[in-house]
Amino acid sequence: MPDPTFAGRTVVVTGAGTGIGRATALAFAGQGATTVVVCGRRKERLEEVAAEHPAIVPVVADVATATGARALADEVRARGEGLDVLVHNAGVFRFSPLAALAPDTVREVLDTNLLGPLLVTGELLPALLARRGNIVLVSSRAGHNPGPGSSVYAASKAGVHSLTRSWAAELAVHGVRVNAVAPGYVRTEAYRANGMTDRQVEGLFDAVAGSVPLGRVADTDDITPWITRLADPAASLVTGQVITVDGGMDTGAGQTDQDA
Ligand SMILES: NC(=O)c1ccc[n+]([C@@H]2O[C@H](COP(=O)([O-])OP(=O)(O)OC[C@H]3O[C@@H](n4cnc5c(N)ncnc54)[C@H](OP(=O)(O)O)[C@@H]3O)[C@@H](O)[C@H]2O)c1
Repeated sequence: MPDPTFAGRTVVVTGAGTGIGRATALAFAGQGATTVVVCGRRKERLEEVAAEHPAIVPVVADVATATGARALADEVRARGEGLDVLVHNAGVFRFSPLAALAPDTVREVLDTNLLGPLLVTGELLPALLARRGNIVLVSSRAGHNPGPGSSVYAASKAGVHSLTRSWAAELAVHGVRVNAVAPGYVRTEAYRANGMTDRQVEGLFDAVAGSVPLGRVADTDDITPWITRLADPAASLVTGQVITVDGGMDTGAGQTDQDA
């Protein structure tokens, strides 16, 4: 029996060619969403996701640019369906010790992780308001519990926590909810994008798992149910919340030198 939770709904997931975004797009499609518009910069990765489910519509768009945000919104507007769920997932993580911090790295991280949600929400707000839709942002526990070597990333995600609360306060009057999920370490391609080999990534995860109170690094399937749950109409009184999914690291029971 198909799951009808999002039947008749239109969903946008940014950064959905890989990782958490990909799994999230497939989760919404699997729960009956009529249309799931996905974006990213690599066309081939988006096409691979779209091939997995007929509801998924790929749009090549860079969320860090006004042109990209407009291209994504144009696809939603052209469908004339309004927008029920907007998931801001596109993000980049860069190891960046303070002494080696390059201005280009600062711009890349802030433009993608913070400016991106602002630009995309700006474009899609009328479509969201029309459907009393809701927003879920993919943040990080680094936004409230930063570690060494990732100050710009942590600042960008602290900004995402702040957007979550301020948009929730501003949009509640329109019936629009805004929430965030803040993962700890998740097994995705993000680490390879920092030049790490598969072996180095597994070494990091093995080391980190020992400091996760619940004993393991997350898979994408540990994160997506929280995104769909917050977007679900059943959560209609939940807004302005940042849900941390980190295996208990925030309890302080574990310690780590690096942060995801
Ligand atoms: N993995 C973790 O441990 C972890 C922990 C906490 C939070 N997070 C957050 O989870 C989110 C997803 O990351 P992930 O771990 O799933 O990594 P990922 O596999 O690298 O996914 C990130 C996706 O974002 C897309 N993207 C990057 N810049 C973009 C841009 N300017 N415009 C459009 N799309 C863009 C990438 O595709 P293109 O390169 O093709 O554009 C990629 O598909 C991020 O916000 C990240 O900060 C991850």
